[in-house]
Amino acid sequence: GAAVEADISALKPGEKMTVEWRGKPVWILKRTPEQVAELPKLDGELADPQSKRHPDEFTPVYARNETRSIKPDVLVVVGICTHLGCSPSDRLAPGPQPSLPNDWQGGFLCPCHGSTFDLAGRVFKNKPAPDNLEVPPHMYLSDTRLLIG
Ligand code: FES
Repeated sequence: GAAVEADISALKPGEKMTVEWRGKPVWILKRTPEQVAELPKLDGELADPQSKRHPDEFTPVYARNETRSIKPDVLVVVGICTHLGCSPSDRLAPGPQPSLPNDWQGGFLCPCHGSTFDLAGRVFKNKPAPDNLEVPPHMYLSDTRLLIG
């Protein structure tokens, strides 16, 4: 499939946009500095915090870091649950909510079997999804233009 370009110049901190690539939704989330700072604190609750499981399938070399991204504030992931392929929904705001951990800092919730992912697309422990959300191949053409694929 062809690569797609995404213009992220209008994306504000805390906002997410979706582009289609190879028939899949690719989420681009601009994290706030506070959200970036929370990521390392979650490691103990995650199934694979360093994305060491199946790195070649789910996490390109340039995203094998704490934020799973090229730029710390910009997350690019495929919005398809790694369990059985449902579409997780946004639960970006922190704070207690039904079916989410009490210390929820924001992320994504899969409605099918309850897998939860943090704002780096990393899956929480004891949930059916085995892997973190896939980071698709991507690169920056400029500060505000991404090429996905
Ligand atoms: Fe997402 Fe099962 S498909 S938890």
